[in-house]
Amino acid sequence: MKITVRQGEIQKARDEALVVNLFHTGSASTKLGGATAAVDKALSGALQRVLRSGDYKGEKGQTLVLYPEAGFPTPRLLLVGLGKQADFTLDVARQAAGAAALKLQCLGVKSASTVLHGAGAGGLEVEAAAQALAEGSILACYRFDGYRSGASGDRATLKRLTVIEGDARRLAGLRRGLRAGVQIAEGVCLARDLCNHPGNTATPTYLATQARGMARRTGLRCRVLDEAAMRKLGMGALLGVSAGSAEPARFIILEHGKLTGKGARRPLVFVGKGVTFDSGGISIKPGAGMGDMKFDMSGAAAVLGAMQAVAELGLSQPVVGIVPATENMLDGKAVKPGDVLRTMAGKTIEIDNTDAEGRLILSDALAYAQRYKPAGIVDLATLTGACVVALGEHASGLLSNNDELSAKVEAAAQGTGEKVWRLPLWPEYREQIKSNVADMKNTGGRSGGAITAAALLAEFVGDIPWVHLDIAGTAWTAKTRPYTPRGGVGVGVRLLVELARNWGRRRA
Ligand code: BES
Ligand code: MN
Ligand code: ZN
Repeated sequence: MKITVRQGEIQKARDEALVVNLFHTGSASTKLGGATAAVDKALSGALQRVLRSGDYKGEKGQTLVLYPEAGFPTPRLLLVGLGKQADFTLDVARQAAGAAALKLQCLGVKSASTVLHGAGAGGLEVEAAAQALAEGSILACYRFDGYRSGASGDRATLKRLTVIEGDARRLAGLRRGLRAGVQIAEGVCLARDLCNHPGNTATPTYLATQARGMARRTGLRCRVLDEAAMRKLGMGALLGVSAGSAEPARFIILEHGKLTGKGARRPLVFVGKGVTFDSGGISIKPGAGMGDMKFDMSGAAAVLGAMQAVAELGLSQPVVGIVPATENMLDGKAVKPGDVLRTMAGKTIEIDNTDAEGRLILSDALAYAQRYKPAGIVDLATLTGACVVALGEHASGLLSNNDELSAKVEAAAQGTGEKVWRLPLWPEYREQIKSNVADMKNTGGRSGGAITAAALLAEFVGDIPWVHLDIAGTAWTAKTRPYTPRGGVGVGVRLLVELARNWGRRRA
């Protein structure tokens, strides 16, 4: 989808369709404002008549298609609701753009013109509103149907969106916002693709190949460690998880910005769990729903998507992405409950349950991250069913050793509409992962499962500010949501990018 800006009057736009918006109206006698009023006037009050009928009220994301009389320059007029003005947020603007774009796509429209949502009475800054418009439109039209024979393979059939803006002073900000929105949304689409591919495509090797290709296109530095290199580094936990799999593990490192020499700043490091299929291992999972565990690399996908956007945005803040990638399978060579693994950090972990594999591979990745002397580490992982029980599908669990970094991640999440909710990480929880034979064991029992998992990770971050996001509940959606079709959500990409952008801004 190509999104451009044109200066002009909205009611004179010539296209296959024109999109205008309105806030929810409690009464039938509401006065229309801005571009919507101008269009209403050109249509001799047609929109006022719609509102008077009471059939359409402009609820959040609610659309209505009108077919204007001859003489109006566009054959289709699409109204999209912004909900109640008092409840309006940046995310509502994103949702409205998404609802409009999806409706156009369903109608088979290939090219449309639109107003910028929310920058008038909504009170949003032009640049932020433009970014939200691009994100909502692209993300809503995302499709993944490459495995159906006869599918077109086309991502979006709505090819062209033109934002019409009357005020010349707003054009520069609008263009900047749109460009960033497109780059960020494409990072999300990359993450969604990686999640949606089945496990027999998206193997650790595939993730590494995709990372390499993406790095070449965007100018990131990329290194991929094979199992021999992991062995040299002493990554016994990652290799332990990989031992039962015929697919070799990969350790992917992506670097953006200046990391060494004079004037180098400490980087942000993003770490993503990349279990390309989680059978549970010898502690095998029940059969029902096991196929969903192809999404157990959603943290990895988020890191790759975010790194692509970070590179394309050309952020001043250095950022490193780290992805330990492996399958978790059963085999005569697989690790067993009772086995003890030695991690890269030197600490030992007793395996109580081979299905608690995410924390094992992350322990080596977090240890590896230390070599960058990070300003902060954020890891994302579909880590525990317990987190899904605690928070459901609507918020990721946030656990941290640092209030300041937590607040920054919470602020970023606020902006992107990706909800996070902090859970405590008090020292008492550490007791639950005490082992009789090793430095710790990889499970802490049923109670507080999301927290005891994070307590193990905390053992490997040292005193570096660190946030762990448990995205087990948020990385996949079984039903379509505003600007998110069912399947891989790409959760975390926008949050990570927002965090990195804010980091750069504060320092500038
Ligand atoms: N990948 C799963 C977590 C998961 C479960 C994500 C359900 C999404 C939905 C993880 O590797 C896992 O199996 N965790 C276990 C840990 C337990 C054995 C301590 C779990 O949550 O059951
Ligand atoms: Mn598991
Ligand atoms: Zn897992």
